[in-house]
Amino acid sequence: MQLTSKRLILRPTSKNDKAAIFKYRSDGETNRYQGWIPETPDDIDLFFSRLSPEPNQPGSWFQMVVTVKTNNEVIGDVGMHFSEDLQQVEIGCTLHKMHHKKGYATEALSEVLDYLFNKLNKHRVFASVHPENISSINLLKRLGFRKEAHFVESFYANGKWDDDVIFAILKREWNAIL
Ligand SMILES: CC(C)(COP(=O)(O)OP(=O)(O)OC[C@H]1O[C@@H](n2cnc3c(N)ncnc32)[C@H](O)[C@@H]1OP(=O)(O)O)[C@@H](O)C(=O)NCCC(=O)NCCS
Repeated sequence: MQLTSKRLILRPTSKNDKAAIFKYRSDGETNRYQGWIPETPDDIDLFFSRLSPEPNQPGSWFQMVVTVKTNNEVIGDVGMHFSEDLQQVEIGCTLHKMHHKKGYATEALSEVLDYLFNKLNKHRVFASVHPENISSINLLKRLGFRKEAHFVESFYANGKWDDDVIFAILKREWNAIL
């Protein structure tokens, strides 16, 4: 399974991407709102072991790397968690900080949303973000997500309880934007 946009190709992660993924995922400052930050390249193996090799499997995460069309550079990843009943999907996106503010995340997630709604016929896609993760919140709003909830100290990460904000978009809302 591969997704292609104007500037990017998204493809399933492979063991060969370990070094590239470690490079941006281990950046603790950029990823301070993420629940998982690898300390060694071997931590990426644990991450791989929890992923499904195929998308659209009940209760599983599927991860794609985001690559630049012109040089195949791996610049980030997009995760999709398929619900047990396969009707809903949680998504997440992480890019290397060198590739922020170029519109790449918006471009990648637009392809992912189109795939989830119009190829796999999902009903709802949502994302969970830290309320201070402004870049992510702006990204979700730019794509048409609505804020649905703000849970107080509901998420335990990096030794403390954090708030958790939920943004979501329905298939009919996505297709109304197009
Ligand atoms: C979440 C994250 C991927 C968002 O990245 P981002 O760079 O803000 O988003 P985009 O790649 O879509 O870039 C959009 C920005 O690029 C600008 N831009 C520049 N050139 C552009 C172009 N050619 N096309 C479109 N936008 C462009 C836009 O104006 C926008 O800027 P603004 O946010 O100041 O309005 C990034 O902040 C990240 O990796 N964070 C760490 C991981 C994380 O916390 N993930 C959240 C878990 S859900």
